Amino acid sequence: MTRVLLFGSGYIAGHVGTRLTRLGHGVVLGSRRRPRTPETRGLRWLPVDVADPREVRTVVDAVRPDAVVAAHGPSDITRCEADPAGTAAVHVAGARNVVAALAGRAARMVLISTDNVFPGHADSCAESAPTSPANAYGRAKLAAEAAYLVGGDALVLRVSLVYGWDRTGLRPNFFTMCAERLGAGAPVAVPDEHWNTPVLIDDVAAWTAALLDSPHTGVVHLGGPRRLSRVRWARHIAAVHGVDPALVTAVPQRDTGYACRPRNACLHSERAAHLPELRGLDPVDVFAADAALIAAVVGPTGSTGPSGSTASTASTASTASTASTADPSTLAPRAALDTSAALDASAVFDASAVFGRDQP
Ligand SMILES: NC(=O)c1ccc[n+]([C@@H]2O[C@H](COP(=O)([O-])OP(=O)(O)OC[C@H]3O[C@@H](n4cnc5c(N)ncnc54)[C@H](OP(=O)(O)O)[C@@H]3O)[C@@H](O)[C@H]2O)c1
Repeated sequence: MTRVLLFGSGYIAGHVGTRLTRLGHGVVLGSRRRPRTPETRGLRWLPVDVADPREVRTVVDAVRPDAVVAAHGPSDITRCEADPAGTAAVHVAGARNVVAALAGRAARMVLISTDNVFPGHADSCAESAPTSPANAYGRAKLAAEAAYLVGGDALVLRVSLVYGWDRTGLRPNFFTMCAERLGAGAPVAVPDEHWNTPVLIDDVAAWTAALLDSPHTGVVHLGGPRRLSRVRWARHIAAVHGVDPALVTAVPQRDTGYACRPRNACLHSERAAHLPELRGLDPVDVFAADAALIAAVVGPTGSTGPSGSTASTASTASTASTASTADPSTLAPRAALDTSAALDASAVFDASAVFGRDQP
């Protein structure tokens, strides 16, 4: 068993922690506030602010980790843009604090990073593409990458937009918000010309665990296999729900909270196929996952019948990641999606007001 200290206790850290625990590792989460999400239930937690070197050293001394995963915020890109110094103080100083606290311990380090280290001119970026951050968040994450990579046994996993069924997390993710709104017949407005390669949270957890337990260093990219615009994605979610895709309207990205984001926030990998630890972990297609997730929480398309079983969920999705997609522990109970009474279907939902503020 390996002792793993995860910095962060949010969406990604919770799922990575759960995955590592199932694999037999001893996991401790570290963040400023005690986590309350379902995926962190049962996981050990210690208070720590990564921006404070003494607190980082204290928690490292307490846990004596064999490995560390850095999956902490701030991850709200729009808010980071409004506070570049504060963003750097946590991501850059935090990385230096962690590396310094681990000096001499021979601990493995994995940093969860982002596609915002690229300017977004190219349709998609591989590991060899030149970085040039699109925004303050990307600049801070790129500097954090550098701090980890000079620190020794370190790997940076750059992850594209993460999604999954998550109604209880700190921030809404695009899939969950669209699924809830559109499932209730409510309109949504999303930025046009904002492209992603969305990646399922289960795949992020699986790749992080596999790469943590590997000798590889440097940078690895994880993006989903489908590049699509937010508009296209939202319309697909509408179609899967059996509601009119015209409920989704496009608004200019520059007029939204997405304005500081790269036009293309898309990743692919030229390394992954050569890493044996990732064999059988091909990321699931977002369209297959949309169908599987919605079927699992509301039943098959257009149906108000019982939730899809684990087996039927698995058969809807594709590739080797399907098994984790179908894991019922990652899916909310069916009743959780029945929000129609709580939503005002007459008001156009402006995704930029919510996702622009809260969504990476
Ligand atoms: N979600 C995505 O689509 C995505 C994509 C690419 C990369 N990433 C990266 O992955 C990481 C995690 O993302 P996420 O979606 O899991 O974020 P999240 O759900 O917002 O969770 C962020 C976590 O970081 C903790 N945190 C914030 N400031 C901290 C500090 N000063 N010291 C210690 N912990 C702190 C928060 O807890 P407290 O506030 O209680 O401290 C929270 O547990 C971020 O670095 C993000 O840049 C995310």
